[in-house]
Amino acid sequence: MKLNIAVLPGDGIGPEVTAQAVKVLKAIAMDFNHIFTFNHALVGACAIDKTGNALPDETIAICKNADAVLFGAIGRTSFDLDPNAKIRPEQGLLGIRKELGLHTNIRPVIAYDDLLTKSSLKVKQIKDVNILIYRELTGGIYFGDHTLSEDGNTATDTCTYNRFEIERIAHAAFKAAQSRKNKITLVDKANVLESSRLWRRIVQEIAPQYPNVKLRYMYIDNAAMELIINPRQFDVILTENMFGDILSEEASVIVGSIGLLASTSIGDKYAMFEPIHGAYTKAANKGIANPIASILSAAMLLDHFGLDEEASRVREGVDKSLKLHITTPDLNTKYDNISTTKVGDFIEDFINHPDETNLN
Ligand code: IPM
Repeated sequence: MKLNIAVLPGDGIGPEVTAQAVKVLKAIAMDFNHIFTFNHALVGACAIDKTGNALPDETIAICKNADAVLFGAIGRTSFDLDPNAKIRPEQGLLGIRKELGLHTNIRPVIAYDDLLTKSSLKVKQIKDVNILIYRELTGGIYFGDHTLSEDGNTATDTCTYNRFEIERIAHAAFKAAQSRKNKITLVDKANVLESSRLWRRIVQEIAPQYPNVKLRYMYIDNAAMELIINPRQFDVILTENMFGDILSEEASVIVGSIGLLASTSIGDKYAMFEPIHGAYTKAANKGIANPIASILSAAMLLDHFGLDEEASRVREGVDKSLKLHITTPDLNTKYDNISTTKVGDFIEDFINHPDETNLN
């Protein structure tokens, strides 16, 4: 298969982890006789430095010309500390989601047997957790009006959803539930928000089309607690943009490190694959960033194109690296010198020689 992949490494640890994912994809292409080409483009703070814009037109064009986008991370502490900054790195990520119409974000949360003791939660609570979060990605408060009054003392952010936006992700989530445990939890704040009540109404209307799927509702505050107390109760979680952002980051506690969570963002035409973590600026260029979320995002890219055997090979490489403790310090208590690159090299070696790879 020929794939043209736009690579947007972004800021902080983004370039280091994305380089490992590209390395892995190159190994897959070589081993399975595919032709993958990679076109790098700027986004986020590094794009602001070079062009004054977090999402240059050239980047949009490269993404629109590509079959898929591999995204790293964006953000920089200096912007976080400046509440008056008008141009912000995050505009790059939000802009690309909007430009490419990436309305459905899928975030798997899987507790690996080899990492159960890495979580701050109890092993018996998290064993066998396997959740798929469907986060709406191009609507809600993220994309409403954001205004500040002239005197600077009143700020407004509006949250709007319409039927169409809710229906399309709800159908996708119900279909996903059908191929899993047939359970879906709509997470909202319907006791307070009108937009949440619209979500409930529409999801309730759709549910009879999926009679084998058990639908239930949970308020976000309760879901935040239940996700920690009894995460195994969840199969597919369906939720709006901001709640999905918060819940998925919380869910990383179950897995043991946020450096493990990957995601797919799909629209009607384009698809983007990215770790859920941010730029983690203070870890940049130290070789300590965990590349697995990025590598698993590459596996999700392969899934997207039906390259199942290839995606499985990547996941087996990841599993083996975890089993042998070839992991960065966020997960490692056994070795103290396993770098970002070394994890990538190990998984690359595994792809090339799946039966022989061991720590050397
Ligand atoms: C994520 C991130 C982004 C979001 C930020 C960087 C804008 O937290 O992808 O989860 O909030 O969507």
